[in-house]
Amino acid sequence: MLKLLKLLKDGRFHSGEALGAALGVSRSAVWKQLQHLEGELNLPIHKVRGKGYQLAAPLFLLDAEEIGANAPSLAWPIHIFDSIDSTNAEALRLIGGACNTPFLVLAEQQSAGRGRRGRKWVSPFAQNIYYSLVLRIEGGLRQLEGLSLVVGLAVMQTLQNAGVQNAGLKWPNDVLVGPKKIAGILLELVGDPADICHVVLGIGINVNMQSAADVDQQWTSVHLETGASINRNCLVAQLGMQLQHYLERHRAFGFSALQQEWESSHLWRGRAVSLIAGVNQVDGVVLGIDSQGALRLGVSGVEKIYSGGELSLRLRDDS
Ligand code: ATP
Ligand code: BTN
Repeated sequence: MLKLLKLLKDGRFHSGEALGAALGVSRSAVWKQLQHLEGELNLPIHKVRGKGYQLAAPLFLLDAEEIGANAPSLAWPIHIFDSIDSTNAEALRLIGGACNTPFLVLAEQQSAGRGRRGRKWVSPFAQNIYYSLVLRIEGGLRQLEGLSLVVGLAVMQTLQNAGVQNAGLKWPNDVLVGPKKIAGILLELVGDPADICHVVLGIGINVNMQSAADVDQQWTSVHLETGASINRNCLVAQLGMQLQHYLERHRAFGFSALQQEWESSHLWRGRAVSLIAGVNQVDGVVLGIDSQGALRLGVSGVEKIYSGGELSLRLRDDS
């Protein structure tokens, strides 16, 4: 089926006969595969008598060579999957094998894309970026401090460079445009965080997605914000270069060197929020972040500091 997709991805019309000849199958076999593409991968196809078949929108499939050509300074090996349960899960499996770090796992779709606390990340075929970069961390806890916020900066910068000027940051690691989520970040760690460990930087960016009935909160995509169809290979390359830049600064100088830059894109500063930790909730006003990336919350006039991967912020109705 992917062979058929590769023939159609130029967005031009192809006759059933030509497709059948290129694939070495009958026209009716082509027809069945086309129905499969529409039904299973949710890729609308135009059928015009006398002209043939055309993808309703051009498709940019992931291509390691094109990514490499657009990011020549990055030498990370790239593992690309047509379909995988979760790029983070695959990255964690690969850490146990013989892969040298850093390495990158990408997929056209995820059948079990995951968000924080076991939530689902909606991951349709060939529309978005599902990206997991694996790093080996040897510097102990200091190298992990604020790391997810640093990844947020790199993702936001990538989106701004792609024309989403209003992309901003919600603590700890969401990238939003106004109230709408455009990217999510999930860090997963194996090993001893105080000594040597591996961390998977999992990043989902909505790129060309224009509809998704199963996302249960406000969301947007690069296409919805800019009106343009985006070449995901170029965006993956850009993201890699931004990550390299920010991770290098973080490694050399720690999170404190990036605190001000993060604050300047902090969308909810000054807003009334509820901080949720499991069944517990604290109401307060967002004051900012500290030099380690922790949240500074004003609670009944007193500044309190919160950090940890299991915390969620929600705007209060009166914010
Ligand atoms: P918080 O982490 O502060 O609780 P959150 O509500 O965004 O914020 P996350 O666990 O970070 O929760 O992200 C998972 C949520 O993101 C899902 O519950 C769903 O509402 C939403 N979501 C799932 N897929 C997508 C997607 N492709 N684009 C935008 N949002 C999505
Ligand atoms: C969140 O906002 O809760 C985090 C979403 C993270 C989604 C990305 S997509 C690539 C990687 N693989 C996953 O299963 N999750 C992350």
